[in-house]
Amino acid sequence: MIPSILPTYNRAPLTFESGEGSWMIEADGRRFLDLGAGIAVNVLGHANPVLVEALTAQAGKLWHVSNLYNITQQQALADKLVASTFADTVFFTNSGTECCELAVKMARKYWYDKGQPERVEIIAFEGAFHGRSSAGIAAAGSEKLVAGFGPLLPGFHQVPWGDVDAAEALVGDQTAAIIVEPVQGEGGIRPLPDADLKALRALCDAAGILLIMDEVQCGVGRTGKLFAHEWAGGTPDIMMVAKGIGGGFPLGCVLATEEAASGMVAGTHGSTYGGNPLACAVGGAVMDMVANDAFLGEVNRKSGLLRQKLEGLVAAHPEVFEEVRGAGLMLGLKCAKVTCGDVVAAGYDNEVVTVPAADNVVRLLPPLTISDEEIAEAVARLEKAASQLDAGK
Ligand SMILES: Cc1ncc(COP(=O)(O)O)c(C=O)c1O
Repeated sequence: MIPSILPTYNRAPLTFESGEGSWMIEADGRRFLDLGAGIAVNVLGHANPVLVEALTAQAGKLWHVSNLYNITQQQALADKLVASTFADTVFFTNSGTECCELAVKMARKYWYDKGQPERVEIIAFEGAFHGRSSAGIAAAGSEKLVAGFGPLLPGFHQVPWGDVDAAEALVGDQTAAIIVEPVQGEGGIRPLPDADLKALRALCDAAGILLIMDEVQCGVGRTGKLFAHEWAGGTPDIMMVAKGIGGGFPLGCVLATEEAASGMVAGTHGSTYGGNPLACAVGGAVMDMVANDAFLGEVNRKSGLLRQKLEGLVAAHPEVFEEVRGAGLMLGLKCAKVTCGDVVAAGYDNEVVTVPAADNVVRLLPPLTISDEEIAEAVARLEKAASQLDAGK
């Protein structure tokens, strides 16, 4: 019999009842160190008092009004995002995959309005993940995501990860845009080298096409810059943001330059809940805490500490781990002779939560507020997990 929840998830046998900072707690009191943060969502940890206050204060005033009216909290958050980034304008969504829908629509509409409606094609990278909507799965194109869901939205092509030459070879007079994650998350914590991101920008400039960056997972302080592309220099024309921007409350947004957004006039796009007062009140508080040098400096310092300890872990358990990779507090442990699922499960046994990814990588995406002591404790727990796996071989 089918369960009452559609069985699309492989769930671990864990049920968390509450959260505090970097910890998630089960009903019997078992406390798990959270190195997953809801897959890069809870950037400020669980039950962060500033976010609780922002949400509850707004909840007492106004939950929802239609986008037929002005929404003060949405305007304030848009102004913050525009002030802190390349963007001139912002559209609010509730999730990352909705951002992909809009990014693709925006790129196509741009060319339609420029009198080149044949420019509909989007070049993406293998191993990408842009969400589960029709545009998202067509963009990523992997068999795992698309099998059984055809006919796919047409106009998407994939080239090998990081292969700028292959992307260049595909660019033609029907190309609208290139879409890329500066650091692939689901694909196995694979940062695109700065030189390649710059080369993609140069390619888009030379061809006059749009560059879409998907910072749904790697944005909002995760890599130690507000947005990951800032490390390379060179900005997108359109950027997808979600996960961390809501700190755990569903919120996403598409940021764009005035030029890229020029086709999106009144009536071309909309969302009932996108940019609602509750989400934007929380998003504003997240931006206030994350978008400053002191906070980001701490992310970088803690990244160094975690990375150094993980290098030690890898060196001590070469049968379990092959390497550490990633950026900031978006790190991956590439597994050697075990599966990433084995490591995640052994982590649960030792009350530390991590997230599996493609390419046999275990993802470490802790709250950006994790303390030095918690980092030491997390690695000690991973060490126990690795020793168990070593002993089992
Ligand atoms: C890079 C990237 N893009 C898009 C998405 C889709 O976001 P959502 O699950 O909020 O729809 C994800 C989710 O994991 C992601 O990592």
